[in-house]
Amino acid sequence: MPIKFAVPKEFAAGERRVAMEPGVVKRLIQAGAEVLMQKNAGAKAYFPDAAFIDAGARLISTAGALRKEADILLKVQAPTVQEIKGLREGAVIIATIHAHRQPELLELLCKRNITCFAMELIPRISRAQSMDVLSSQASVAGYKAAIMGADLASRFFPMLTTAAGTIRPATVLVIGAGVAGLQAIATARRLGAVVQGYDVRSATKEQVESLGAKFIELSIRAEGEGGYARELSGEEKARQAEELAAYIAKVDVLITTAAIPGRPSPKIITEAMVAGMKPGSVIIDLAAEGGGNCELSVPGKKIEHQGVIIHAPLNVPSQVPLHASEMYAKNLFNFLQPMLKDGEFAPDYEDEVVAKSLLTRDGEIVHAPTREALQGGAS
Ligand code: NAI
Repeated sequence: MPIKFAVPKEFAAGERRVAMEPGVVKRLIQAGAEVLMQKNAGAKAYFPDAAFIDAGARLISTAGALRKEADILLKVQAPTVQEIKGLREGAVIIATIHAHRQPELLELLCKRNITCFAMELIPRISRAQSMDVLSSQASVAGYKAAIMGADLASRFFPMLTTAAGTIRPATVLVIGAGVAGLQAIATARRLGAVVQGYDVRSATKEQVESLGAKFIELSIRAEGEGGYARELSGEEKARQAEELAAYIAKVDVLITTAAIPGRPSPKIITEAMVAGMKPGSVIIDLAAEGGGNCELSVPGKKIEHQGVIIHAPLNVPSQVPLHASEMYAKNLFNFLQPMLKDGEFAPDYEDEVVAKSLLTRDGEIVHAPTREALQGGAS
């Protein structure tokens, strides 16, 4: 019997992505597996059922029936209690889980003996770049942030020479030049804006400049572990605010993407900085998921404060659902491919990528940092 991958419709509020695309269906079937799709699973991402059927998938009418048949459930968002309960004992779930936010799910996964992999835990090593959902989805978000900035701006992004006169290009500043920030810079540049980038990691200077943007050099450096930034001290935060304020006062669109793993988003843009911005300028706060980089951001909302629009959207990748799903599904396939041997699911649990992304197995939380975080929380 070939292994059965099952892909349900996502039902988290506002979620339009799906964990599959027709090309990946074909590749899984070539690898000896069967793919079951819930009816209308891809509708919100504009993948019609017919495209999945043409690729060789079998359509299942209801989520309940899909779960009963599933060997491996593939999802974008974390599974719900109902989903976990509906799977047979010993089944596999692969999704983005953010387990520390929902300890009760982990308990249930263990109780039902579900093997669960969390895509966001895949280590960010060269070999696993093609599986990295954090990067693929951040890149979608960065692109969309620049488009949102252009949409909400009170001025054009490009320089325009018209019969009514010449229009100067907009100035865009991107704070946080990680995956999302660099994509926002590239997109704003393509739209013709004059773009600046800023980050606390020195390595980003070259990356920002290679995209044709100007790097803003401040006196603070904050390289952390594993290529990430570390949190700034109170004194450093004050110095950063003081040095940044003059730049922020001049920009038309400010895109913020700064994050520190496992911590709330750093509050970089103060109310005073917003007060110093030009009327009609825009802040797109991509860090809203972690509380936002701007003190005034309201996650999930667009507000106006003294003539400055502050937009702090949530789940931005879902707003580009077709390509975000396609990238996510390809990441999943690249993760799964080495585990599929003659149509069997045979992960090498010693492999670094497998071991680090494995949350639960044989009734236990095997991911040590998650287990320790939960024990810490419980004590
Ligand atoms: P992230 O989403 O955690 O943070 C975004 C950016 O915010 C980072 O560049 C960070 O330096 C910056 N930041 C944090 N605090 C800040 C502050 N107070 N002021 C200004 N900027 C601040 O980071 P992301 O995009 O997930 O990845 C960052 C790193 O991971 C990069 O070094 C990237 O090259 C690396 N990476 C490596 C991969 C690999 O396979 N080797 C794959 C993907 C990313």
